[in-house]
Order: sequence, then structure tokens, then C-alpha cells
Amino acid sequence: MKAIVHTQYGPPDVLQFTEVAKPTPRDNEVLIKVCAASVNPADRYLMRGAPLIRLIPGLRTPKDKRLGVDVAGQVEAVGRNVTQFKPGDEVFGAGRGAFAEYVCAPEDKLALKPANSSFEDAAALPIAAITALQGFRDKGRIQRGHKVLVDGASGGVGTFAVQIAKSFGAEVTAVCSTRNVDIARSLGADHVIDYKREDFTKSGQRYDLIMGANAYHSIFDYRRALSPGGIYVIVGGGLARIFQSLLLAPLLSRIGSKKTCFFIANINQKDLVFLKDLLEAGKVVPVIDRRYPLSDVAEALRYLEEGHAQGKVVITVAQ
Ligand SMILES: NC(=O)c1ccc[n+]([C@@H]2O[C@H](COP(=O)([O-])OP(=O)(O)OC[C@H]3O[C@@H](n4cnc5c(N)ncnc54)[C@H](OP(=O)(O)O)[C@@H]3O)[C@@H](O)[C@H]2O)c1
Repeated sequence: MKAIVHTQYGPPDVLQFTEVAKPTPRDNEVLIKVCAASVNPADRYLMRGAPLIRLIPGLRTPKDKRLGVDVAGQVEAVGRNVTQFKPGDEVFGAGRGAFAEYVCAPEDKLALKPANSSFEDAAALPIAAITALQGFRDKGRIQRGHKVLVDGASGGVGTFAVQIAKSFGAEVTAVCSTRNVDIARSLGADHVIDYKREDFTKSGQRYDLIMGANAYHSIFDYRRALSPGGIYVIVGGGLARIFQSLLLAPLLSRIGSKKTCFFIANINQKDLVFLKDLLEAGKVVPVIDRRYPLSDVAEALRYLEEGHAQGKVVITVAQ
């Protein structure tokens, strides 16, 4: 089968589109014929071998040469312990090596594809939408009527975050640049702040819950914009900001009533089904910025690295 592999860390030029052996599912795994995949910042960290991250695939060179996680496709075969899926089922979820014509994924990281959605829409969901969901529901303890702010509302995580916060009944403020103001409104944001014209951390407005998709401000700025008892959920950002947050969050959370937390999303079947239901109810609609063929994953990652994707970047593999 055709797949994207990398034998060294580096920029998108290290990616090769080449012939590799078709994988065989383990007992708990499902073999998926990939119809679509999507690109996430995590793919570029693995491609580049970002510090700390490269501890997982190998310090000097990637021992695991595959890339890609988010996937949607059709079940081709199942391992002998798989009980929930059968050949022909249309599924979506997480499978290591999804930038390929076939990928194996554990049964518990898959769900049936939403009935009303395309493979591309389904592939856009797993990492980004689960991050938004777990950030709000589990870390942010979101409640109906909460004043919620999404900083970075026009990216992969942010476009889901706005819609998911609305689905919980929150009053949502989206922060994005001028060209994305209309997108943010169309996703249901009650208020939109153009970060090119206004710094929300200095406006005097206070929020019960803030999701910082990329930690564009310091932890102190975000906390200043929280109401008493408010929670700041850090989703991502540069290493310096993540370290600042990891070091300071536990200390600052002891001072006063404001909380800060960082987390790594956990892709699981229960939350995939939760998202499937939101899609089927029309409460969440993936925003797809660009589509690339499998042979052009390097181009897709180059585009993502520019940092201005409007929603998700999808890889179309087979129809
Ligand atoms: N913790 C986890 O488990 C987890 C899971 C998934 C992702 N992440 C992390 O979350 C972060 C976001 O991921 P993503 O997929 O959403 O990234 P992304 O799609 O690449 O984000 C790009 C978006 O960020 C916006 N942006 C850039 N500068 C901004 C600023 N100063 N203020 C507000 N918005 C700005 C851009 O809008 P403009 O073009 O308008 O500037 C663009 O729409 C990444 O750091 C990623 O590593 C973490």
C-alpha cells in the first residue's frame, strides 16, 4: 500500500510517499481502508522530533516511521477479540499511521461514522474536537450560562470549541483575526473579538472559563481575564508558555479562587460517540479549510505550520 513515512526528523521535506507493507490487525484492532485523515499540530511535532516528544518514537531517529492519527474509513478486517465492528462498517477515530491507504486502530479508539457526515468531516473530528470537549467538560466544568472565551477560535481546536461550548449552553466569546470574524459568528459565537484590534486581556471583561488554544498570552494575562472561581484551560502553545504554565499553574491555583490547568486529550470511544451525536444533531459542523491528496501530506503540514489554518486541514485518501 501507499503511505507517508519518515526515517529522520525534520521539516516536511523529510516525508516520503512510498510503498510499504499493508498492516495486519492485532487481536483488539480493526484494519481500516482509509478514506480520509486529518492533520494536527501533533503530527508536525512527531515529524520534527520536538524536544521531549521524540522520547516516544525514538531519540535520534523515529523508530516508528508512520505518521498521522485522525482517520475515517471503512472496516476491512477485524482482530479476533473485536466485538463491536465488522467488515464494511464506516468508522472514525484514532489510528497510528493514518497517512496511509490502510491503518490499524484499537477498537476502543473508534466509533461508527456519524450517519449524516462525509468521511472528510468525520476525519476532522477526533483529536481537535475531543480536545475541545474534554477541555470544557472535564477540565473547565462548563455550565449552562457560563461566560466562555475561546482564544484561537478559528483553528482546528477553536472552531470545535466555539460550537461545543454553545452546545453546553454557554455564552461564547471567540477571539480571532479580522478575516475570521465571519467564520466565528457563523459557528454561533455570541461575541467576537478581533485580536488585531483589541486585546481582550486588557478590556476589563471577565470570563468564567477561558480556553487558550495556543497560549497566545502569558498565564498572568489569562488569569486576569477570569472571574473569581474561573478556570483557564491551556490547550497548546510554544514550549516556553507550556513550561511556564506547568510550573506556575499549581502554585497560582493555590492563590485565590482562579484555576489553571493543562491537559493532554485522551481519544476514547465514549467521547467519539458523544461527538457523533453532536454532529448528527447538527450542533457541530466541522470547518474544513483545505483538502490534500495522500501524496501531498508534506504540503498539508507546511500549510499547518504557517499557523493560520481556518479550521481543519484534511487528507483525502480514497472515496
Ligand atoms: N493538549 C492537547 O491534547 C492538544 C490537542 C490538540 C491540539 N493541541 C494544541 O492546541 C494548539 C491549537 O491546535 P489547532 O489544531 O487549533 O492549531 P491551528 O489550527 O494550527 O491554529 C491555527 C489558528 O490559530 C489562530 N491564531 C494565530 N495567532 C493567533 C492569535 N494571536 N490569537 C488568536 N488566534 C490566533 C489562527 O487564526 P489567524 O489566521 O486569524 O491568526 C488560526 O486559525 C496547538 O498548539 C496544538 O499543539 C493540544
